[in-house]
Amino acid sequence: MRIDIITVLPEILKSPFEASILKRAIEKKLVEIHLHNLRDYTDKSYNQVDDYQFGGGAGMVLMIEPIDKCISALKKERHYDEIIYMTPDGETLNQKTSNGLSLLKNIIILCGHYKGVDQRVRETLITREISIGDYVLSGGELGAAVLCDSVIRLLPGVLNDETSALTDTFQDNLLAPPVYTRPREYKGLKVPDILLSGNFPEIEKWREDQAMERTLKRRPDLLEE
Ligand code: ADE
Repeated sequence: MRIDIITVLPEILKSPFEASILKRAIEKKLVEIHLHNLRDYTDKSYNQVDDYQFGGGAGMVLMIEPIDKCISALKKERHYDEIIYMTPDGETLNQKTSNGLSLLKNIIILCGHYKGVDQRVRETLITREISIGDYVLSGGELGAAVLCDSVIRLLPGVLNDETSALTDTFQDNLLAPPVYTRPREYKGLKVPDILLSGNFPEIEKWREDQAMERTLKRRPDLLEE
């Protein structure tokens, strides 16, 4: 998979890809991440990419021209399956969306800033708009990092058996069951006996029950879907 990210703040997006699972996925060539600084696509002085909004009002708006130039340059090189704009008024990200995106070959992610992007970008260049939740971030970069993380960990070969995504919370519309590690007892707090029993069918059943109980208690809405 190849992900091209367009941003005015590429430095925010460097570190998430420089550690742990995402770093290893890139090293293993399971994913390519390309950061593009929008300021490289403007002819204006001071590398200007934003301007005041027509009609007045506070906040700057990213202009269509540099975004169009950047996206057009990328589209000349290859076909893109989705061109995603990160925005709080997009569809809310969930596991199903990440599962679907993980099957794609090439995607572009555009990060908004300030008051957002010129509406004409959204109407003519963007194929999908995604929010990571009902709160407002200073820009789309952290949202893009969240989206990339949730998608990349699903690519075949990124996780090993121990970290398999199949047992993740949300994978069956269920939250994951509780987990324990050594020691067996800490300050009188014990690990449930069943997990130490070696009876794997019973352990599996216990985990399923716990997952259901947790989901009913914390997120009953998941069971209605
Ligand atoms: N940009 C600003 N807020 C955002 C959000 N909640 N999700 C995605 N992108 C955003």
